[in-house]
Amino acid sequence: MKKIVDQLFRLKDLNLILAESHDPRHKLKKVLGPLELVLFGIGVIVGAGIFATVGTAAAGDSLRPGAGPALIVSFAMTAVACGFAALCYAEFASLVPISGSAYTYSYATFGELVAWIIGWDLMLEYCVGSIAVSLSWSGYFTGLLNSLGIHLPAWTTIDLRSAMQGFNKAQALLGSGTSFESLTPALQNAWNAINAAPHICGMPLTFNLPACAIVLILTAILVRGIKESSQFNVAIVIIKLLVLGFFIILGSFYVKPENWVPFAPNGFAGIKAGAAIAFFAYIGFDCVSTAAEETRNPERDMPIGIIGSLIVCTIIYMLVAAVFTGIIPVGLLKTSLAHGKAEPLALAMQHIHLGWAAVIIAFGSIIAQIAVLLVLQMGQSRIFFSMARDGLLPPVFSSVHEKFKTPHVTTIVTGLVIAVVAAFTNIDEMVDLTNIGTLFAFVLVCFGIVILRVKEPDRPRGFRVPWSPVIPLLGVASCIFLMTALPGVTWVRFVIWLAVGLVVYFSYSIRHSRIRGLKLIHDK
Ligand code: ALA
Repeated sequence: MKKIVDQLFRLKDLNLILAESHDPRHKLKKVLGPLELVLFGIGVIVGAGIFATVGTAAAGDSLRPGAGPALIVSFAMTAVACGFAALCYAEFASLVPISGSAYTYSYATFGELVAWIIGWDLMLEYCVGSIAVSLSWSGYFTGLLNSLGIHLPAWTTIDLRSAMQGFNKAQALLGSGTSFESLTPALQNAWNAINAAPHICGMPLTFNLPACAIVLILTAILVRGIKESSQFNVAIVIIKLLVLGFFIILGSFYVKPENWVPFAPNGFAGIKAGAAIAFFAYIGFDCVSTAAEETRNPERDMPIGIIGSLIVCTIIYMLVAAVFTGIIPVGLLKTSLAHGKAEPLALAMQHIHLGWAAVIIAFGSIIAQIAVLLVLQMGQSRIFFSMARDGLLPPVFSSVHEKFKTPHVTTIVTGLVIAVVAAFTNIDEMVDLTNIGTLFAFVLVCFGIVILRVKEPDRPRGFRVPWSPVIPLLGVASCIFLMTALPGVTWVRFVIWLAVGLVVYFSYSIRHSRIRGLKLIHDK
């Protein structure tokens, strides 16, 4: 029994972690600098959150109240929580410049069991987050194609569950005398999808082809290599910054200050619920740390990359939130969002009769989400890579491609899993699940800083969180605070996910962990 408990809390020696990364069999190419890291961060941060979930954060939905024009406060609130966590991530990344992010950090501070839990939990951020973004991307992409007169068969653009729900709702409305033309586009699409779908054993077959396709294309790019992927990311980041800048500048001429009154229609409850949704828009700054092993000078460049990208995004988000809620009254937004998944920023442009601007915004949204997907998929494969290198997952996942020097096996496997799941699932609740998993990882990272300062006070750190342990503990508290604003059903799913992870750990990983045969340090 004691042996097992020792194993669960065995720490991976930081020296060992650093030495392992120099093993040529598992070595990644060091090609990234500070500017590339900031752009890399913006690439994954600015995406579905600001272009899509911002509408629900302002208007609310059946599960929660909306923030209203106080959305700007929600963004500021979430930015503070993320800021605390970003400082902690920066210290860890400068201390342990190894791919694997929070997973690697927790292996060095809390021991193997917690490291496993974090690695498993991070799948919610990277895998489930990728699924959510790919589905959202697919919606905008098909919408843009439609506006260009190109119509994909409806059954190749929607998962079966959403199609059946929409079909049943449409059937009920048509049965009560509503005409087909009066149904919302989403309901018309579901109706067409089920009616036109091929049937297998009597079951209609519908799936989300664009979501699946975009994930597979990005997988191929990631297998080719990080430098190529990074250049691709830079081009996309420039486009998305231009589009958001365009929204802010053009929209500011149409702001009506009376739309900002009442400022917080649902009081603090609305602001808090808005902050928990808005969190999705910030996810990604932590992904920068997953590229630590591929960074030329991680001690200096990691903090710049993580904190720099967070600051840039916070400024953009607050400006977008102010202009957005100044253009469109929250009441109208609520009605529009209740009748289909409109793109809120494009909707705001349509509201002020700038249809051409709405198309530009829609185009920017599609580009932005490609960049997010790219980095989320890359983060997931790097974490798998680290876990496999430690023996917690089968060794094949830690191999590096001879020519491209990328972890090709994990990249391909995670890409296939995300693509298949994205083809057949529904975006609902994916955002909440991603948020709870990511916030939990942030809590452990912040707490890890406090522990590591006590355990390894003298180890050189390229960057130190100021006022420790106050800032890290504020990070813990603020992330838990945001977690409490997420719906109960999300908590249930989260606990189930962690329970499944424990079954995998105790049935495979604990027996294959490489740490058993290596030099260990014990938690004294
Ligand atoms: N922050 C990322 C987005 O908004 C996940 O899409």
